[in-house]
Amino acid sequence: MSDVKRETLLEALKTVIHPKSGKNLVELGMIQGLVVKDGAVGFALNIDPSEVDEMEKVRLACDDLLLQVYGVEKVTSVLTAERDGKSEPPKPGFGEKRTFGGHGTPPPQEGPAGIPGVKYVIAVASGKGGVGKSTTSINLALAFSKLGLKAGIFDLDIYGPSVPRLMGIPDARPESLEDGKITPLKNHDLVSMSIGYLMEKDAATIWRGPMVMGAIQQMVRDVKWDLFGPVDILVLDLPPGTGDAQLTMVQNIKLDGAVIVSTPQDLALIDARKAITMFDKTNTRVFGILENMSYFICPHCGERSNIFSHGGAHLTADEKGLDFLGAIPLDMDIRQTADEGNPIVISQTENPLTKAYIEIADTILEKL
Ligand SMILES: Nc1ncnc2c1ncn2[C@@H]1O[C@H](COP(=O)(O)OP(=O)(O)OP(=O)(O)O)[C@@H](O)[C@H]1O
Ligand SMILES: [Mg+2]
Repeated sequence: MSDVKRETLLEALKTVIHPKSGKNLVELGMIQGLVVKDGAVGFALNIDPSEVDEMEKVRLACDDLLLQVYGVEKVTSVLTAERDGKSEPPKPGFGEKRTFGGHGTPPPQEGPAGIPGVKYVIAVASGKGGVGKSTTSINLALAFSKLGLKAGIFDLDIYGPSVPRLMGIPDARPESLEDGKITPLKNHDLVSMSIGYLMEKDAATIWRGPMVMGAIQQMVRDVKWDLFGPVDILVLDLPPGTGDAQLTMVQNIKLDGAVIVSTPQDLALIDARKAITMFDKTNTRVFGILENMSYFICPHCGERSNIFSHGGAHLTADEKGLDFLGAIPLDMDIRQTADEGNPIVISQTENPLTKAYIEIADTILEKL
């Protein structure tokens, strides 16, 4: 079966009227990033932030309508509120400048936004995919919690969110609050948010850049991070890569610093250098490099093997004038506990690797 045409969808959406202006959504240019692939439709509804409640109903109506179109099997939509001169100022909190941190000169105009209800925000990035950013993010967040801080984890990986699984609550869903905000999801004494809690599995894989940023801005603005008390430190799990999408995220959220994760191979290190450059460009402080899957200790004979060679991250850190934050080995328990949603720092308190994560978290705190 050939795919549904965008034009057909737009025709359908032209029948939806914006309540205040009486004009249709397409005419008003409110439908953005409309994509369709294999019967799955995605779009963003760009709204005035003051109309969020009414427009949420309109969004649901659009979803219902599109589901009636022959060939449409699934619809994923989000509200976005991009600022464009005409829009209202964002809700209080978003766009506020924070007074701590003190790194770099903010870009002209608006500058990156702090996350309301959160004191420190740090990013975990790598450049290369699959090197263990998410695993590191969750274990560091748990380590901060063990050090007595109220910690959280914010999954910015729209295409491959892994936080719901790592948190051990893959089927959790946020609740809406009266002020239009949504609740973060809590487990293991951590608060968390991820697009994975908000949509059907794999639904986001058809999204394009502007929709991704819209969804992230919406999460930044609308999550009531401090619902269970003020958050001392929020760990951002960045998606792999150093392209425009990552750069925009780093520019749009005010960061107090970043941790670069790399495996020891040359290829991963090249990407780690790109990530460092990306943070330099945005005047974000880099705390240092963490070498993940650094070596392997045979559980049977205890012999150590440097599977991906070893020490490259330390050398790269030296070369870039950065600190080396520590080495975490390739370890079955790290993978298994992460897969089970019960990461090692919480489930194996006596494991030396738990202590290693806590030491790294402690080093970062000292730097903050
Ligand atoms: N130190 C480690 N020892 C053993 N397995 C690990 C380690 N670190 C990560 N893994 C495993 O490697 C895989 C990839 O890790 P993870 O998802 O954290 O990487 P990522 O960098 O976030 O990937 P992506 O780029 O896809 O977001 C997972 O199965 C994870 O359990
Ligand atoms: Mg990841």
